[in-house]
Amino acid sequence: MAILVTGGAGYIGSHTCVELLNNGYELIIIDNFSNSNPESLRRIKEITNKDFYFYEIDLLDRIALEEVFATNNIEAVIHFAGLKAVGESVSIPLHYYHNNITGTINLCDVMKKYGVKNLVFSSSATVYGMPDSSPISEDFPLSATNPYGRTKLMIEDILQDLFVSDNNWSIVLLRYFNPIGAHESGMIGENPNGIPNNLMPYISQVAVGKLDELKVFGSDYPTVDGTGVRDYIHVLDLASGHLKALEKVIFSKGVEAYNLGTGTGYSVLEIVAAFERESGIKISYRMVDRRPGDVAICYSDPSKAKIKLGWTAQRGIKEMCRDAWNWQKKNPNGYSNKTEVDLSN
Ligand code: WQD
Repeated sequence: MAILVTGGAGYIGSHTCVELLNNGYELIIIDNFSNSNPESLRRIKEITNKDFYFYEIDLLDRIALEEVFATNNIEAVIHFAGLKAVGESVSIPLHYYHNNITGTINLCDVMKKYGVKNLVFSSSATVYGMPDSSPISEDFPLSATNPYGRTKLMIEDILQDLFVSDNNWSIVLLRYFNPIGAHESGMIGENPNGIPNNLMPYISQVAVGKLDELKVFGSDYPTVDGTGVRDYIHVLDLASGHLKALEKVIFSKGVEAYNLGTGTGYSVLEIVAAFERESGIKISYRMVDRRPGDVAICYSDPSKAKIKLGWTAQRGIKEMCRDAWNWQKKNPNGYSNKTEVDLSN
């Protein structure tokens, strides 16, 4: 029995595939490389010395998707594939709704047809909208402040309805806080297209000389130093959370949401200072206006995942910054150009 990983060539997907392979799972990866690079798949093989099946397909291609299920014995699906840039989603909402929601409906429909009803869904803390307080627990009100967040919220609702229609489904919704860092080898890591939207890749590109200075969005928030506070979590801790969620969906029924965070918030300037300590590089920055849509403080209450999944984050901000820098300094241009990689099965 194999585990199907959609979007397995991406940042969180590739790190989760490494953990799955290292734990003896048989993998099938699908990816359309719209926001990832074939090179990451080659490196997954190199890190783990394990092989896996790969299909370059889009979830919108229903025929190709059915072929994967028809020719493989799939036990469960971990669904990462989706567009995730908040700003971009505001400018091209229809593309986000079609890609993320239609793609997920296609996936679930084909899963249903082939009797595969174990699903781990890559959701996001963005479904908490603009929370009034932190720490945030799973029973907090849900809302969306942008089309990207609305796709995550809608998909969570779709999956709840799917379970109501058929109680044989077993679904876990993982709400990620702020994933950063990289595999300790420095061979795989965060590889954003163009100018990074997120803090850590921006900092690491300043450190490696690709960008001049960090713009700090807001210095007048009610926080320790006036800059935004977030719950950063090491991507390998996020990956191990997926393995616990996979066990959960294989051995139980129902739909449950879990926060994947550390429960600790750090400000932008605290992250900059930690990164400078780990890299030995001074990060130049400039205070600018707040970024529209940002909240002052957002961090998780991760106790439900601890109690119900037996999972807690193990790595601290030191490891997150150390590993983020190790990846960036070894890969100043990320996976650079798309390479022709022999992924023939
Ligand atoms: C973190 C902090 C910024 C960049 C986003 C998405 C969310 C999720 C995680 C997908 C904030 C500050 C950032 C910069 C800065 N993605 N910042 N200068 O906004 O918490 O969450 O990524 O699910 O959906 O919204 O992460 O890394 O963009 O920002 O000062 O150049 O860093 O203001 O306080 P965010 P982020």
